[in-house]
Amino acid sequence: MLEPSSDELRDWGNSVIQLMADYYGELRDHRVYRHTSSREIRDRLDAALPIRGTEFDELLKVFRETIIPFSRQNAHPRMFGYVQSPGTPLAAVADMLASMLNSNLTVWRSAPAPVEVERLTIDWIRQILGFNPEAGGLFVSGGSMANLAAIAAAQQAKDSSSGRLRMYASSETHFSIAKAAALLGIGRQNVCHVAVDERFRIRVDDLISKITADLESGYVPFCVVANAGTVNTGAVDPLAEIREVANRFQLWMHVDGSYGAFAVLAKSARELFAGIEQADSIALDPHKWLYLPVDVGCVIYRSPEIARAAFAHDAEYTRIIGEKADEAFAFWDYGPELSRRFRALKVWMLLKGVGLESLSEAIESNLACARYFESMVRASDDFEMIAPVELSIFCFRHVPIQLRSESDQTIDAFNERLLVALQRDGSSYLSNATLGGRFALRGCILNYRTTLEDMEILLDDLRRVATSLLTPI
Ligand SMILES: Cc1ncc(COP(=O)(O)O)c(C=O)c1O
Repeated sequence: MLEPSSDELRDWGNSVIQLMADYYGELRDHRVYRHTSSREIRDRLDAALPIRGTEFDELLKVFRETIIPFSRQNAHPRMFGYVQSPGTPLAAVADMLASMLNSNLTVWRSAPAPVEVERLTIDWIRQILGFNPEAGGLFVSGGSMANLAAIAAAQQAKDSSSGRLRMYASSETHFSIAKAAALLGIGRQNVCHVAVDERFRIRVDDLISKITADLESGYVPFCVVANAGTVNTGAVDPLAEIREVANRFQLWMHVDGSYGAFAVLAKSARELFAGIEQADSIALDPHKWLYLPVDVGCVIYRSPEIARAAFAHDAEYTRIIGEKADEAFAFWDYGPELSRRFRALKVWMLLKGVGLESLSEAIESNLACARYFESMVRASDDFEMIAPVELSIFCFRHVPIQLRSESDQTIDAFNERLLVALQRDGSSYLSNATLGGRFALRGCILNYRTTLEDMEILLDDLRRVATSLLTPI
């Protein structure tokens, strides 16, 4: 098993590709989610420490019969929970090939071609965003790590000898920003939460007054985080205005575009992102709206040399001897990781294989699905939007006729029960958000398979499941 013969390997490959083809072909017949328990799954897995090996067919059988059915089907067109990409067959193949080559993208000499593929692909993303030609970055495990790397660079760029560093982000900002502040020794308490407007975008007036008050109290403001698609509602902060504030107070401007930034590819949303190219750094996740499987996030720095000051070190075992600049390139100088898998292969294969035209169309179609859903909700008398649709996230609640005169608390409690019941039902999957103290059903469309009809099915599913909750047994 450690070293199969070529024929054995071909057999494995045929079985795997057959399984993949069946899986994708039958995707719509699967339930998105199957209600299960830890016990049920453990009982199906042979827990004995494997002293002797097992045939490949047996391993694949466990994958087919236990792992697939007892997983959430993230590729399903009605998987609307969280910020979940579907993956693509092309990327699944790319991941397999990357593991075959097992390149370790630490430094150019460790993986010359893979490093060039990563640099090229990062440069394509830079161009998609409209950043300056000198901008650069790298792939990391996800948005959280990209945010951490960017905040580390921002921290490095500021002289903090005269007081405590302070950073600013809207109250809708993803928790990975506060986590980064904690890990970097800035402290969660030094992330100031700025108020948002009725569209859940940062209020620039509140941002300015918080910075001004902090300066008067002797703090050292150093960074503002702008959202290009908040996790709750998809709100895009006014990026150009935030750039002006950052210039005025000499702050690093970081954009968290982990969820939303690739929507810059969609013509109908592009205007929302005006000014994104002026950021000092940006986090964005190909494993979200480029539809790729985890894990691949990306951080881009406007001036990579500043990031270098945060990450480079000169341990003797990483010293590069006798190389020219391009060949002396080391990713470890720009991010927190040393060993890094060949994440770029799936990004490169997707961009090159599918092309920006088709990707833009897919993103545009996701936006259209969310807008269509909003229009259906607004036209109905038993659903209400809780936030406007900005990108592909929709937040709403069900208010059946029987509950119309009930309190918000009762309606919240009903929607919570509805969410759990919908997830258990398995035809569609939503998650939730709390907005202005209210419970919201929340969906996010990040799947090129999702159609307008799926949005209609979602509403039908909700009504059907709600009826069963409201019907006395
Ligand atoms: C806006 C935003 N930022 C950051 C993250 C964290 O990304 P990751 O899960 O890739 O670490 C998410 C995840 O959903 C997000 O939506």
